[in-house]
Amino acid sequence: MKFFIDTANLSQIQEANDLGILDGVTTNPSLMAKEDISGEQAILDHYVKICSIVDGPVSAEVIATDFEGIIKEGEALAKLHKNIVVKVPMIKDGIKAIKYFSTKGIKTNCTLVFSAGQAILAAKAGATYLSPFIGRIDDMNWDGIELIEQIVDIYDIYGYQTEVLAASIRNPLHIVKCAEVGAHVITAPLSAITGLLKHPLTDIGLAQFLADHKKAAESK
Ligand code: G3P
Repeated sequence: MKFFIDTANLSQIQEANDLGILDGVTTNPSLMAKEDISGEQAILDHYVKICSIVDGPVSAEVIATDFEGIIKEGEALAKLHKNIVVKVPMIKDGIKAIKYFSTKGIKTNCTLVFSAGQAILAAKAGATYLSPFIGRIDDMNWDGIELIEQIVDIYDIYGYQTEVLAASIRNPLHIVKCAEVGAHVITAPLSAITGLLKHPLTDIGLAQFLADHKKAAESK
């Protein structure tokens, strides 16, 4: 399972990359806005900075919602760097644009996915990645992980090449559950990724090992 970090924060991206387990980055307009980047050119420059930190796919989202607008923005984003993946919302013109991009060899990430029906459409259009938002589904008292499992099963049956990129991950358990049901990729905030490191028995065990070593070293 590939690990992407879901942020536009450069120091968090650097920290995750330094761990040596990072495969890519996803952003969205809300995450970009959080970084307080002002101006269209500054936003484009920010994507290039992210690409210079991580050698892997970097999702950059279009703002347009009409076919021509999505194509224009997406082509400009794709020209920024070879690792840019154009993130396109799950709407009618978005599906048309994903089909267009797939014929031009431009990688896409179909975002704001909340049902298996949407997932089938995106795969048929040739999306490179599909982003079901599991945390937002859980927030509605439905089961986000169940949706990931359903989509992975459908994609397996038909041999669709689209990778299921579980998004809107809120905690380390979400990541483990995604692994159990066969998500191809997870994208998560740094806190959920580093949360995987934590176990009290590891801390207790390490403290004991270090104390025992110190005692043994001092007794010589
Ligand atoms: O990748 C999509 C993600 O950023 C949405 O997360 O926590 O806003 O639902 P969240």
